[in-house]
Amino acid sequence: MQFRTLGRTGIEVSVVGIGAWQFGGEWGHDYSQQDVDAIVNEARSQGINLIDTAECYGDHLSETLVGRAVKRDREKWVIATKFGHRFLGQFERDQLWSAAEVEQQLQDSLRALQTDYVDLYQFHSGDDDVFDNEELWTMLQRQVQAGTVRHIGISLSTDISVRQVEDATRIGAGAIQVVYNRLDRRSEQAVFPLCIEQNLGVLARVPLASGFLSGKYKPGATFAESDIRSRRERRKIEDALHEVQQLRSSEIPPDVDMAAWALAWCLKNPAVTCVIPGCRNPQQVVSNAAAVALLETG
Ligand SMILES: NC(=O)c1ccc[n+]([C@@H]2O[C@H](COP(=O)([O-])OP(=O)(O)OC[C@H]3O[C@@H](n4cnc5c(N)ncnc54)[C@H](OP(=O)(O)O)[C@@H]3O)[C@@H](O)[C@H]2O)c1
Repeated sequence: MQFRTLGRTGIEVSVVGIGAWQFGGEWGHDYSQQDVDAIVNEARSQGINLIDTAECYGDHLSETLVGRAVKRDREKWVIATKFGHRFLGQFERDQLWSAAEVEQQLQDSLRALQTDYVDLYQFHSGDDDVFDNEELWTMLQRQVQAGTVRHIGISLSTDISVRQVEDATRIGAGAIQVVYNRLDRRSEQAVFPLCIEQNLGVLARVPLASGFLSGKYKPGATFAESDIRSRRERRKIEDALHEVQQLRSSEIPPDVDMAAWALAWCLKNPAVTCVIPGCRNPQQVVSNAAAVALLETG
């Protein structure tokens, strides 16, 4: 594994982390503790130390599963979680952004994670109206002073708010999480220069374009109703899968695993600190960690 410093936070994170959205049950599979333990154990053996979860991947369900899986060596892990929503049921959320509501969510996240601190506490893809709340940031600064939050982060919405990145240092954030992958390069212009300027760490999320950049899905692929991908517009899925087929022949060496290639591609951008691919099983953790070997060979 390789490690990089997550911008101004100073935390050393493995360049390949784990995204834990799927543990909340919205990827067509209900995860048991045993499933999550197996994934986290493989991550441990690969030298991975970063897990990204959230308050609303299930009702603190992903956090609960992750908390139990890392309990024995919690201090070795960098746990990133988020605030701003309440899970109401599959694909349904309530928004909770007041300082008092977020303070309560933090308590709930700490309980679920079975820890007394969160390494990176991220604003979870809210719009500018809820971002502009001095009381919220003051409350979070108090949490940093108290040690319940080590660092504040901003996870940008898919509709990128450049203003939130511009304001990151002012509100005390040290890292940005943003969609970045070979099929979605909007961050290169809109976000990365501002991150470099402010020395903000960058967590590249959805680095496999929701699994499409693994190369295993061909045009015409369908997904179970309980899998969030079944809710996407059909035409957009088809366009993405055709683009992936073209990349396979134009950019990716024939003997290279496409998922590892796609992760290494993100990590070659100097603004990117780490990638946080979701992993369905331990085998995917192994393939994703192999991206590091592609960095070494250039
Ligand atoms: N607003 C936010 O803050 C926000 C929003 C979205 C995501 N995120 C974070 O970003 C993380 C990653 O996003 P994501 O999970 O949506 O997308 P992703 O990382 O691009 O794709 C993950 C999916 O790709 C497939 N996959 C992973 N590794 C593979 C491998 N080696 N070979 C083949 N297939 C592989 C798996 O699904 P299948 O095997 O089922 O294909 C896996 O669930 C999330 O878990 C979450 O932590 C945050």
